[in-house]
Amino acid sequence: MSQSNRLVIFDTTMRDGEQSPGASMTKDEKVRIGKALEKMRVDVIEAGFAAASPGDFASIEAVAQAVRESTVCSLARAVDLDIERAAAALQKAERARIHTFIATSPIHMKYKLRMEPDAVLAQAVYAVKKARSFVEDVEFSCEDAGRSENDFLCRIIEAAIDAGARTINIPDTVGYAIPEEFGYKIKTLLTRIPNSDKAIFSVHCHNDLGLAVANSLAAVANGARQVECTINGLGERAGNAALEEIVMATRTRHDLFNISTNIDTTQIVPTSRLVSSITGFPVQPNKAIVGANAFAHESGIHQDGVLKHRETYEIMKAEDVGWGANKMVMGKHSGRAAFRARLEELGVTFETDAALNEAFTRFKELADKKHEIFDEDLQALVSEAVADAAPDVYKLVALESRSATGETPVAELVLSKDGQEHKVSSEGSGPVDAALKAIEQVANSGANLLLYSVNSITQGTDSQGEVTVRLEKAGRIVNGNGADTDIIVASAKAYIHALNLLQSGVSRQHPQNDGV
Ligand code: KIV
Ligand code: ZN
Repeated sequence: MSQSNRLVIFDTTMRDGEQSPGASMTKDEKVRIGKALEKMRVDVIEAGFAAASPGDFASIEAVAQAVRESTVCSLARAVDLDIERAAAALQKAERARIHTFIATSPIHMKYKLRMEPDAVLAQAVYAVKKARSFVEDVEFSCEDAGRSENDFLCRIIEAAIDAGARTINIPDTVGYAIPEEFGYKIKTLLTRIPNSDKAIFSVHCHNDLGLAVANSLAAVANGARQVECTINGLGERAGNAALEEIVMATRTRHDLFNISTNIDTTQIVPTSRLVSSITGFPVQPNKAIVGANAFAHESGIHQDGVLKHRETYEIMKAEDVGWGANKMVMGKHSGRAAFRARLEELGVTFETDAALNEAFTRFKELADKKHEIFDEDLQALVSEAVADAAPDVYKLVALESRSATGETPVAELVLSKDGQEHKVSSEGSGPVDAALKAIEQVANSGANLLLYSVNSITQGTDSQGEVTVRLEKAGRIVNGNGADTDIIVASAKAYIHALNLLQSGVSRQHPQNDGV
């Protein structure tokens, strides 16, 4: 396949996706997502913004070591320190990319950067050259390109390509563009920039007007050959273009786009679930491709049609995107070696035998309650082990809840705070409410509950319930997750996880702060 009909898929779930309030990921979680993206054959994985914090740096380093097939990338503002941090974090990568950017719109240059356009251009050239001194593969982004003047874009992009950028990214940073206009912008740039054939043109669209995917596809139709996107459309504010929609739109309408990606589409649903469970952002049922209803035919007429001839109402096959692929992988009789091997396939490794034994004990406990264990169960089990192993302030020791028709539900629990156990009980409007109120008797957190949601991890009534609790305190938002076959226990675990995250107070630099 020639370069011109190959679409590069650049995933930024772990960088722009992580900029969604509350969606932060630990190093181990990023490694698991990185492995899943690699298995899906994503071309480029943006693992984070190395200069943001020591934690971000360590995560990129870990992903760069774990992922061997895909290119691993770090974002960097167009400044020395950011580029040096990115290069250092990527040192062990098999294939490394530095993605450097600077704002190019009149409004950003004047008010955010307080720089004249010529100085911005010089800074961009400097940054690209500096990045090229570390790696061959350098991407340059014109932040807020959607609102930048084409004349200036032409000048700065031509200079960035001359300086060594191999990929030029045109972000619609604030989600302002309209498909026809955005497609025309890409075509104009490709036509007017004399050295445009020396780089791959990329787009990165935000979804503020619900047009991120439409804008990206309009760009592809007009010559863009890389799309930056995220699993489940996660991302800053209203999110980014959803990877699954870009991939399936170009594949389903190959007749129109005449373009192919390298993606193994059967990995789409499992990866969507993994990201949802790690971030605690549930997928809405009617979400295209990965929503629970995406392939469900409710109306009788549709069902009849599908049974007679599937293509009457289905444009894609559910199994092609990984629905129904959740086969039972383990059970009560599976041994430690099989358990370890399966987790290794999922990107989870154990540093000590004690850690493996601890996880295996949890697995056996779960297998006693639930006959069939799926990959999703194993992922949830590992997330929980990681959350429990952290040096946390609060730990759930025991929980008993009582509810009966016509009676007020009561929860009694033992909660340890800084190693000291407290026995508390509370009534509530339901058993979950009672359990969370009992926890608050000890924590007295002063946090606001922004979201409480329960999802079943797999099918069947013996499934584990996965609970997400989003708390806000003093402007900080965290998501706590917990899974258990008992949803009251899962809720208590999720609430405690969120309380512990609030305590950790980790702070990170936002990449779009003025770095110059
Ligand atoms: O939205 C944006 O402009 C970005 C850039 C840093 C690529 O995320
Ligand atoms: Zn962005």
